[in-house]
Amino acid sequence: MQQAEIGLIGLGVMGSNLALNIAEHGYRIAVWNRTAEKTRSFAATAGALSDRIVPCETLEDLVAAIRPPRPIILMVQAGAAVDEQIAALRPLLSADDIVIDAGNANFRDTMRRFAELEGSSLTFIGMGVSGGEEGARHGPSIMVGGTQASWLRVRDVLTAISARYRDEPCVAWLGRNGAGHFVKTIHNGIEYADMQMIAEIYGILRDGARLDTAAMARLFEQWNGGRLESYLIEITAKVLAAADPETGRPMVDVIVDSAGQKGTGRWSVIEAQMMGVPATAIEAAVAARGLSALKDERAAAESLYGTPTTGFERAIVREAVADLELALLAGKIAAYAQGFAVMEAASKEFDWGLPMATIARIWRAGCIIRSQFLDTIAEAFEGAPPGNLMAAPRFVDLMTEAVPALRRTVARAALAGIPVPALSAALAYFDAYRTGRGTANLVQAQRDFFGAHGFERIDRPGAHHGPWGA
Ligand code: 6PG
Repeated sequence: MQQAEIGLIGLGVMGSNLALNIAEHGYRIAVWNRTAEKTRSFAATAGALSDRIVPCETLEDLVAAIRPPRPIILMVQAGAAVDEQIAALRPLLSADDIVIDAGNANFRDTMRRFAELEGSSLTFIGMGVSGGEEGARHGPSIMVGGTQASWLRVRDVLTAISARYRDEPCVAWLGRNGAGHFVKTIHNGIEYADMQMIAEIYGILRDGARLDTAAMARLFEQWNGGRLESYLIEITAKVLAAADPETGRPMVDVIVDSAGQKGTGRWSVIEAQMMGVPATAIEAAVAARGLSALKDERAAAESLYGTPTTGFERAIVREAVADLELALLAGKIAAYAQGFAVMEAASKEFDWGLPMATIARIWRAGCIIRSQFLDTIAEAFEGAPPGNLMAAPRFVDLMTEAVPALRRTVARAALAGIPVPALSAALAYFDAYRTGRGTANLVQAQRDFFGAHGFERIDRPGAHHGPWGA
């Protein structure tokens, strides 16, 4: 029997859709799942693609079914399952086989796995895949980390299955070892910020302007035709327009206001903190998920403090709503600036040479944060020296135009008691970033006062101490 060109382990939602995508692009793919029943039912329901799918009952069968040197994609749950899978595969593999971890791995685990495989004849690739179920099936955005040589060996198949933005494939080799998974982690941090800011705008519309969901859906749909055009705005409009089949009420109104998280958003913030990079809008978004989970405590606190949310005065509703599109744009720019700044710092720290313009380009389609806006970011980074996105000329213009709306929006929300943590963090970040003379001189003085930490003076070099002792 003709051998498969590639293998895949883990036929969950992402794995099975990725396998179908690979088969659809003409590749013969061998698949294996821990439970053989799943492998069988997957192959049985693959329809016209089934003749390119080789279902395998054992790991040994899987390895034997692939033509060496074998690329094998792991689509198993991030964490211990990946280590277990690699350990089970290792004795079966031969020189030059490539194990590709396509899950949402913590890049530090990926770095460790690279180190553990060093010196063996096996190659490892840590690959970030974004786009959910639909992306995996019809074209995800793919962020590859590993050696350039191993990338070149899988480039064709990954290019074939990736999303396209105006004919450009949304896949790239981003750097050595953990680079791909790190970039995916930051993608998710930005995803959290994007989603949270949209949710805050929804909160203002619901509790401040008191719009009904149909009117909100129309607004988001309208914004999706403008500068906010993006997948997340598009699906928000659809979500708001949907009715619950059981009760007939707006679907969002019957969903509990408590959101979970799997870890990538949190990791992006931890890594930002480790490198001392301010990523406050992303942090606020991660923290907002934590707060959302405190459902019972929040309900109890509401009975202690009452509801400050009285809605906006009728007179300001129109202006308030008119500001929201630009407010969201400004918040979004600040959050993306933070995400890219974290990647800039990591690129130096781990010596990856992350290509910022390429990252923006491969996020333009396929992934959850896909948007027109990323094209503008790609242009800003194209050939430009690294630096904060907010300092790029195009973004200076955009922020100059949009920040006043963000400022008014945050101020109105604060006065009405509507929580907008990510939008406020974005505004504070912008204000701190554009303030030439901040207030850390006082912090320096305090540190010197209680701990003799020393400070720099504005008028001469060296470390100095204040006259506190006297
Ligand atoms: C993607 C997404 C995806 C992620 C989900 C859920 O790019 O396709 O980022 O990888 O798993 O968005 O993430 P949370 O459960 O942490 O919200």
